[in-house]
Amino acid sequence: MFTHEEVRVRAGRRTGLPIVVAVHSTVLGQALGGCRIWNYPDWRDGVEDALRLSSAMTAKNALAGLANGGGKTVVPLPPGTVLDAGTRHALLSDVGDVVEELDGRYGTGPDVGTDAEDMVVIGERTPHVFCRPAAAGGSGSSSPGTASGVLAALRATVAQLDGSPGLDGHSFAVVGLGSVGADVARRLAAAGSRLVVSDVRPEAESLARELDADWVTPEQALTADVDVLVPAALGGVLTPGLVPELRCRAVVGPANNQLSSPDVATLLHDRGILWAPDYVASAGGIVHAVASELYREPPDVVERRVERIGATLRELYRSAAAADTSPATSAEDLVAARLAGG
Ligand code: PHE
Repeated sequence: MFTHEEVRVRAGRRTGLPIVVAVHSTVLGQALGGCRIWNYPDWRDGVEDALRLSSAMTAKNALAGLANGGGKTVVPLPPGTVLDAGTRHALLSDVGDVVEELDGRYGTGPDVGTDAEDMVVIGERTPHVFCRPAAAGGSGSSSPGTASGVLAALRATVAQLDGSPGLDGHSFAVVGLGSVGADVARRLAAAGSRLVVSDVRPEAESLARELDADWVTPEQALTADVDVLVPAALGGVLTPGLVPELRCRAVVGPANNQLSSPDVATLLHDRGILWAPDYVASAGGIVHAVASELYREPPDVVERRVERIGATLRELYRSAAAADTSPATSAEDLVAARLAGG
């Protein structure tokens, strides 16, 4: 079933590269979601990713209590493509033009493969862009806000598992040490947790040494014997084949679209593994951006808004346990209710 309001696929005017903007829903307000620039086997895979990621943004924004719908931009690059600085700049201008054509129905921000500086370039073409650096009038990188939200989600999860939100004395496996994963790992180490970490880039091992964490391969990290598995890289890691191998008690992380298919939520539930819906745990970045840039809230109020991710998750865990369903099912019901009420 086609559930999106609008999907645009354009050849960039300057680069000829395909630019996909999926507007899933504007029921609650302007659709928001970041701009992903990534390599895909085929540009059509990028369209599919944009479809999935934009509908997840509708759920993310609805459950974060934002008056925003969901959208996403994906620029699918052919395998192996590395952009030189000039082409990259032209591509970001192309993205800005496509966003601007949507007349404010969609606003963009950073995502995998883009950062705050890139938003300045997009912002030369359209005002509908978030997370420019502070010097350029924005709220900066979304990564620290995302990491704060993940920490709130982890405290809520540990409280659900063991009755108290203290992170010390608990163990975590962080898979992916990009800007968010590294930040989460640092904060967990500072809180006195035991850490297992991994990344596909060998150079990330230095962070493991710095944090006194066990450095393992991503495959080993996924099946590590820890309290909580923290997926912080690309999506699709939770597959039907992996679920029987898991040795964690819960899975909570910032990666978008962690399930290879929706039924994996039920497989996790049947194994007694608590799964925090990714679109709840990863909302801190967009909450920080919207509260700072649209609502103009001061930093302490923004921080409290991000912290509310913990309360949302506790409520989902409670209602799921009461109904003996997965938190994913509770979350879907809540999204439907918010959209119906919006
Ligand atoms: N890309 C991030 C997310 O998936 C954060 C973000 C998107 C921030 C759009 C601002 C605007 O939530």
